[in-house]
Amino acid sequence: NKAPVLAIDGPSGSGKGTIARAVAAELGWHLLDSGALYRLTALHACRQDVPLDDEHALADLAAGLPVAFLQDEQGEPHIQLAEEDVTWQIRTEQVGDAASRVAAIPVVREALLQRQRDFRQSPGLVADGRDMGTVVFPDAQVKIFMTASAEERARRRYNQLKEQGVGVTLASLSEEIAERDRRDAERSAAPLRPSRDALELDTTGVPVDEVIGRVLAQVRARL
Ligand code: C5P
Repeated sequence: NKAPVLAIDGPSGSGKGTIARAVAAELGWHLLDSGALYRLTALHACRQDVPLDDEHALADLAAGLPVAFLQDEQGEPHIQLAEEDVTWQIRTEQVGDAASRVAAIPVVREALLQRQRDFRQSPGLVADGRDMGTVVFPDAQVKIFMTASAEERARRRYNQLKEQGVGVTLASLSEEIAERDRRDAERSAAPLRPSRDALELDTTGVPVDEVIGRVLAQVRARL
């Protein structure tokens, strides 16, 4: 009697965030952007002057994150940290980098586990991250591991950040992304890897609408 879950995992820039949002809207399901929780923990730590190697202080911050997930009148998601809108602040590569350091700490992951599972509510949940299918929702009804070539992932992130007015160069971004992916894949706590029962979906050169269609077809076939 548990609500259905669509777990979408993959490296940064694989398109999971965009696809997860669109599929959740189409199905009328809840959405969990689990990366945002790690980004928020990292940002909160910076604001509170908690060093990124103080594991227990970071876990305490993660457990008590004063966060609110809201929607504006246009239906766009907004994230508040201690009543401040940080929707854009958490998207910088600097926060992404800090997030992946914080995310390598097992007690931090433990502190965020139940909060993530609480998003599983009727009529269903689309959850995107690195360990949705392996750790957080191992019994998810549908699991997708989304990939794309390194060049394409860097280009997508670049365009996204440019749209948001964040100044970066493609070359430095490629390097940062490679470094972050390496850290996410090599860490011992919940490393980035496909669940054995996940469907791998390479989105290199595939239009967004087509990816959305393929994912929706998977969900509909298994419910
Ligand atoms: O997906 P996003 O780029 O927002 O995630 C930021 C960082 O948070 C990732 O690089 C990863 O280290 C961490 N993360 C994680 N597990 C998740 C989601 C994100 O470790 N489920």
